[in-house]
Amino acid sequence: MGWQMGAAFLAASILISFFHPTGVMSFTPAKVLLPRAPRIVLLKVTWEPSNPVAGQNVTLIPGGLEVFHVCRWYRAAAVDEANEIFSYHPPPPSHWQQKGSAYTGRETGGPGCTLHITNLTLDDSGNYTVTKESRAMPLNIGHALLRVSEPPSVPDSACSKRSGIISGIVLGSLVVTAMIGILLYFLLRAYYPSDNKTSTQLISTYAMYEHLSPSVGENP
Ligand SMILES: *[C@@H]1O[C@H](CO)[C@@H](O)[C@H](O)[C@H]1NC(C)=O
Ligand SMILES: *[C@@H]1O[C@H](CO)[C@@H](O)[C@H](O)[C@H]1NC(C)=O
Ligand SMILES: *[C@@H]1O[C@H](CO)[C@@H](O)[C@H](O)[C@H]1NC(C)=O
Repeated sequence: MGWQMGAAFLAASILISFFHPTGVMSFTPAKVLLPRAPRIVLLKVTWEPSNPVAGQNVTLIPGGLEVFHVCRWYRAAAVDEANEIFSYHPPPPSHWQQKGSAYTGRETGGPGCTLHITNLTLDDSGNYTVTKESRAMPLNIGHALLRVSEPPSVPDSACSKRSGIISGIVLGSLVVTAMIGILLYFLLRAYYPSDNKTSTQLISTYAMYEHLSPSVGENP
């Protein structure tokens, strides 16, 4: 009877552990409904340099699909054939680029669907769009808000330098004038100690010159 009791106890303990809420053996519901893959995936676009200046080059670098069969760049916020710069077909067999309506001759596609624009103009500013297509994969689409700024103009910096020099000269001459004035004041006091003018009285520079001229003539 002992072994039968033991077997019954074992069976009972297995059943309890199986259905126990915190038991290791727990059921996970079968994934009957798989989430449907999105048909569009937003990708991030970065660019180098981050603050492009007119006359410079820029390279726009999209993230997203590493392997794709074609990608397209648009000079607009929307996928629109009229604004297509080019379509880029990566290798194999070899990469090739097909010009679109918005191609200006300054745009080149590169690995990973980079967009290289040379000799930027202020008009190149805008919301660019890139798409990457691959069979059986959702469409990858990204935007880049490019702002091309004016280069710091040379005449401006020369002008500010000149105004700096001028203000330096003005300040310097003011200091020199003040020093001459102070010097003349003390010279005058030294030459005319009995003068009833007090030290607090202000004497204009012209007045000082008037007083000084005869004294220079008198004293050899
Ligand atoms: C701009 O790109 C062109 C072609 O890729 C290159 O010849 C030129 O040196 C670049 N200019 C600057 C300023 O990087
Ligand atoms: C660029 O255009 C897209 C599509 O219209 C828009 O969703 C996005 O906000 C725009 N980006 C910026 C920075 O304006
Ligand atoms: C860059 O563009 C300006 C006008 O936007 C033009 O005068 C200049 O020749 C161009 N430079 C190059 C290297 O293409």
